Amino acid sequence: MKKWTGMLFALCAIISLILSGCASKQAGTGDALKVGTDAQFPPFEKQEGDGRITGFDADLLQAIAKAGGFKADLQHTGWDPMFEGIDRGKLDAGIGGITITEERKKKYDFTEPYFEATQVILVPNSSSVKTLKELNGKKIGVQSATTGEKVVQDAFGKTYAGLKGYDDLPSAVEDLKLGRLDAVVADNAVVMEYVKKLGNSQFKIVEDPSIPKEQYGLIVKKGNKKVLDQLNAGLKKIREDGTYDKIYEKYFGKK
Ligand code: ARG
Repeated sequence: MKKWTGMLFALCAIISLILSGCASKQAGTGDALKVGTDAQFPPFEKQEGDGRITGFDADLLQAIAKAGGFKADLQHTGWDPMFEGIDRGKLDAGIGGITITEERKKKYDFTEPYFEATQVILVPNSSSVKTLKELNGKKIGVQSATTGEKVVQDAFGKTYAGLKGYDDLPSAVEDLKLGRLDAVVADNAVVMEYVKKLGNSQFKIVEDPSIPKEQYGLIVKKGNKKVLDQLNAGLKKIREDGTYDKIYEKYFGKK
């Protein structure tokens, strides 16, 4: 009797070992890509009351994942932590209206571009500002470590005293509303969304054609070819099959 129980026990142990091996393998291949974002950037990403992240980038990522045959889990990390998360291997990728820049290309690989943008100036309706240059001497709010910040630094110097950096864009716009800033420089589609929401009796957008055009891409850690290829393959598919256009129209209307 003892012998049989012992054998049964050994058999069970072997079977469960095999099963757990299979299970962990399955989890390995089925694992969702961890993707970070700063979900305070509508219409590209925002966090709903229930925690869900919605917006153009959120839809785009899910469409890319579906087309590429993988799963993606989008999480709100904030702007700087998104980059750090990728640096430390805690995140597989980042999406968030991230402009493709030479500086960033030193540390990250970008997918093919998926959106064209530029920086614009948000000012109170009463402002007389008509160009970027005319902001000289004024208090300008930007999200720190963004291309908006770079546009201001390129125009007035890296240590320009009137430049105020914020961790996120809503905080900068809040200070503009409170009269603590003269202007905010940020991405055009996002600024447009603010003007829509706040009503154009309060704020207006100043566009300066001297400000260069930008393109958004998704990022992975430099050299992470596996994930980069996955993302690019999905992106290519949804560009070709019309899914990209559908998402574009949902947020921005017909091209
Ligand atoms: N396009 C700008 C940049 O890449 C700003 C992006 C900010 N995105 C965000 N989700 N807050 O620097």
